[in-house]
Parts: sequence; C-alpha cells; structure tokens
Amino acid sequence: MTKAVILGTGSCLPERTLTNTDLERMVETTDEWIASRTGIRNRRIAGKNEQNYQLATKAARRALAVTGIDVEELNLIIVATISPHMIMPSTACFVQAELGAVNAFAYDINAACAGFTYGLDLASNYIQNRPDMKILLIGAETLSARVNWEDRNTCVLFGDGAGAVILTGSNDGRGIFGSSLHADGKLWNLLCMDSPQSLNPELQRDEWQGAHIRMNGGDIFKHAVRLMEDAVTSLLRKHDLTIDDIGLMIPHQANIRILKNLKERLGIPEEKVFINLSDYGNTSAASIPIALDEAHRLGRLVRGDIVLLCTFGGGLTWGSLLMRW
Ligand code: ACO
Repeated sequence: MTKAVILGTGSCLPERTLTNTDLERMVETTDEWIASRTGIRNRRIAGKNEQNYQLATKAARRALAVTGIDVEELNLIIVATISPHMIMPSTACFVQAELGAVNAFAYDINAACAGFTYGLDLASNYIQNRPDMKILLIGAETLSARVNWEDRNTCVLFGDGAGAVILTGSNDGRGIFGSSLHADGKLWNLLCMDSPQSLNPELQRDEWQGAHIRMNGGDIFKHAVRLMEDAVTSLLRKHDLTIDDIGLMIPHQANIRILKNLKERLGIPEEKVFINLSDYGNTSAASIPIALDEAHRLGRLVRGDIVLLCTFGGGLTWGSLLMRW
C-alpha cells in the first residue's frame, strides 16, 4: 500500500540569539528561573530580512536540495503557522512565489503547535489518493512579533524559526502509517492570540486584550502531559505496538518539565527522545520540523526505524503520528 514518505528535511533559524541573561534586562526574571522551570536557555529572534515566509523559503530550499527534486515538480505547498506574514494572502503563497514553484497550489493551516503534525496527516491523505504528488510541508513561525515583551509569563518561552519536509508516495514499506489527532475548542482561552482589533466599530469586542499570546501556564501544563500521553498510548495500541518498538520520539518542544513527565508516563528511555528545546525555545508549528531536520542531520533517524511524533497546542489541539523512516 502506498504511504507518504519524507524524502528530505531542511530548517532555517534566524541569526540573532536572545539568551536568558538578555531577558533579565527586559523583564523581572532570572536565567535560573527560566532554565529550571522551562529548560530553555536561548531562542532565536527574527530580524529585518527574516520574515516568516523568508525563513520558510530557506528551510524549503534546503529540503529540496537534499532530495534533488526540481522546484517545478512541487504540486502543493502547505505552511503550518500561527504567525503568518499577512492574514491574506497565505504565507504559503509568498513561499510559492519566492521559490518559483509555478505548478504548486498553496495554502496555510492553523492548528497552533500541532500544525505540522496535522499537516503531515493532511499530506499523507493527499498522497494516498495521488501517490505521485510532491508536497512541500513547512512549519514556520515569527512568534517574536506576537509575544508581549512585557509579560514575563510568556515572553521567555517562545522563539522563531522554520522547518520543512518534502513528501511523496512510496510502496517500500516506509512512510506515515498512523495518526491520532484531536481538538477541544471549549478550552480555547487557556492559550490564545487575538487578531488585530476590528476596524469595524460594530465588531470591536469589549474583551479584546491585544494581538499577542496569552496563556494559563498551569492548566496548559496539566492538559499537555495527559492528552499527549493518551494520544500516544491509544495510537500504539491501535497498531499493536508498544513504546519499546519506537526508534525515536520527536515531541513538540514546549517545556522540559512537560517532556520529563511525558517520558516517565510513557516509560520511554531518555536516549530515544529528541530534545533541542534549550537552544530554540518553543517555536510552535516549527518545533517538530526543526527537530526532525536536526535529528536527521545528526544521524538519529535510522532507515526502517519507527518514528513517533507527539504534539500539543492552542485550540486546544493535540495528537500523535507514526511513520517508518
Ligand atoms: N521569571 C520569574 N518569575 C516568573 C516568570 C519568569 N519568567 N514567569 C512567571 N513567574 C512567576 C509568576 O508570576 C508566579 O509569581 P507569583 O507566585 O508571585 O504569582 C511564579 O513565578 C510562579 O508561577 P507559576 O505559574 O506557578 O510557575 P510554574 O512553576 O508553574 O511555571 C510555567 C510557569 C513555566 C509557564 C509553567 O506553568 C509551564 O511550563 N506551563 C506550560 C506552558 C507552556 O509550555 N506553554 C507553551 C505553549 S503551549 C505548548 O506549546 C504546549
């Protein structure tokens, strides 16, 4: 049976690093507080020529270079993001133009930090219907433009960056073979980012608090651990697998304590979990594809191994996905 395989990965991080010590000069915080509560030490912050679509395009070019696929062979470009370059057109259209991917249709998806994993599921379904499709899937964020730099509860957590993969169909037993995706919109207000204030006075909302990220950290923490554990265990059960069958788990990089709890609950050994959170912070939809690319370049992804992704974000949205690398 045809499955969607990842032919190549690429990523792009902004030049500038913002350290915890830098943050000590911006808000009332300490390196010790941030590192011990979150595991984050550095994050990258985009500059003038590092707009969301520019980071996304560089990541895409790197992924394309690995595969040797010509840009004109791409049929579809999907960008998962919660910090699009503009509301309209999509960031994917900007990427399409920058790349010169003249034969690709293009659109964005928003499933917050779960966006890339949702996107893999979407790409997998396209490819099952049309195995020769070549799909460019990107997770890209410039969250530095959406963070309230006076709110120490959130501004220490997030970073900018982009990761990309190229997918097509394969019959060699490799590829995406299962996913378990979920949402609970009733809990939207635990983690949200408002749009700009309405220009129509009739549609202005009394409760508008600014177009930046707001979060109830404690509740997010509890839901993230429990729901990711459920999504992983139910998916493994469905495919008659146990955690011991997993070669590498690549979780959404949000917080070291969430990941520590999750590892303990799943019983997965340290060396089978890829974590790069300390360098980049939480890059939302970009976190898994950046980690995937880094893991790939470090030789942590072994052909034939089962790779497990798990993710959680605003919405709420969460899920897990399995592929044979
Ligand atoms: N520096 C110093 N003190 C801080 C900071 C900071 N950067 N941020 C908050 N504090 C203070 C709080 O104001 C509070 O002070 P108070 O007691 O005087 O009110 C105190 O620290 C304790 O706050 P808590 O919220 O209890 O701290 P906690 O140990 O729970 O850690 C944190 C907060 C790190 C946000 C935690 O709740 C968490 O990890 N939540 C998960 C959230 C997350 O990862 N979100 C990412 C987006 S969601 C996702 O991608 C999965």
